[in-house]
Amino acid sequence: MKKRIVSGMRPTGKMHLGHLHGALLNWKNLQEEYDCFYFIADWHALTSEYAKPDIIRQSTRDILIDWISVGLDPDVCTFFIQSSIKEHAELHLIFSMITPLPWLERNPTYKEQLKELTQRDVYTYGFLGYPVLQAADILMYKANGVPVGEDQAPHVELTREIARRFNYLYGTVFPEPDVILTPTSKLLGMDRRKMSKSYGNAIFLTDTNEEIGRKVMQMITDPQRARKTDPGNPDICNVYSFHEIYSAKDLVAQINKECRTAEIGCVECKKMMAENLKKGLEPVKARRKELEADVKRVDEVIEEGNRKSRIIAARTMEAVREAVKI
Ligand code: TRP
Ligand code: SF4
Repeated sequence: MKKRIVSGMRPTGKMHLGHLHGALLNWKNLQEEYDCFYFIADWHALTSEYAKPDIIRQSTRDILIDWISVGLDPDVCTFFIQSSIKEHAELHLIFSMITPLPWLERNPTYKEQLKELTQRDVYTYGFLGYPVLQAADILMYKANGVPVGEDQAPHVELTREIARRFNYLYGTVFPEPDVILTPTSKLLGMDRRKMSKSYGNAIFLTDTNEEIGRKVMQMITDPQRARKTDPGNPDICNVYSFHEIYSAKDLVAQINKECRTAEIGCVECKKMMAENLKKGLEPVKARRKELEADVKRVDEVIEEGNRKSRIIAARTMEAVREAVKI
């Protein structure tokens, strides 16, 4: 029997290259080895987007199409929507009874988000309980592993603590899942900050070739390289990081050399990268187009995933109610 993994994404906008290289390709790498449950965390999105929730439904479908377009296989993985499996809410409620407040208040991701999400009021009960809901998502399927980035590792640790506490109080129901750490993507946004929709520095999977060309031209390269005659350092250049992924090996080697000797200018270098990036994204866009024309197929994928997930969730909740004697 394959080990099971569970991971989710909040539907708060379109997928960009940060998601692709920071999560989705890793999910794809794991899809044969593990029994994968990948889901849209729409209730989690609501913790921060509650005042303007329209984005959630819009992006839910978009994200599912993106997942399949980049090569996550719905015949191999199970995709579902969190809010379609009401058991998550019940398990969240039960976990909230046994989760000590200080565990949530000292959570580093929570403290950071409070500082970061300044345009929204997230001093809410729901936002504090975000990791409790996440623990319910993970433990519902008795996952052995959770593929996430470093920022989410504290949430998986908290999940383990909640599982341990539940098992201690009521008898063993849940395994303690391991973090499967996703290597951080080297690809930054145009401004060299982390790629993020809210920074306005992201290249989206759905960007047209014109948009891609324009965004690549805006990219900050080696900041030390002011003139074309200055030698550059590809090791610290974001354009070069894109070349490493999207260009052929010999071109990458050539650029590495010619950048250091100032034989190549950044404009020329960017043009080549943009072309290769466009080509690299072509198959993704082609699949997206097919899926957009076949709405029924996407609906079927969701329905089938929801159905499978619901069966497991129902079984887990029976065991939970039995253990809690309620
Ligand atoms: N908190 C995760 C994020 O921001 C999303 C998420 C919700 C999740 N539930 C999960 C990830 C369960 C892994 C497992 O990306
Ligand atoms: Fe970066 Fe290319 Fe310019 Fe070198 S030539 S600094 S790799 S954009």
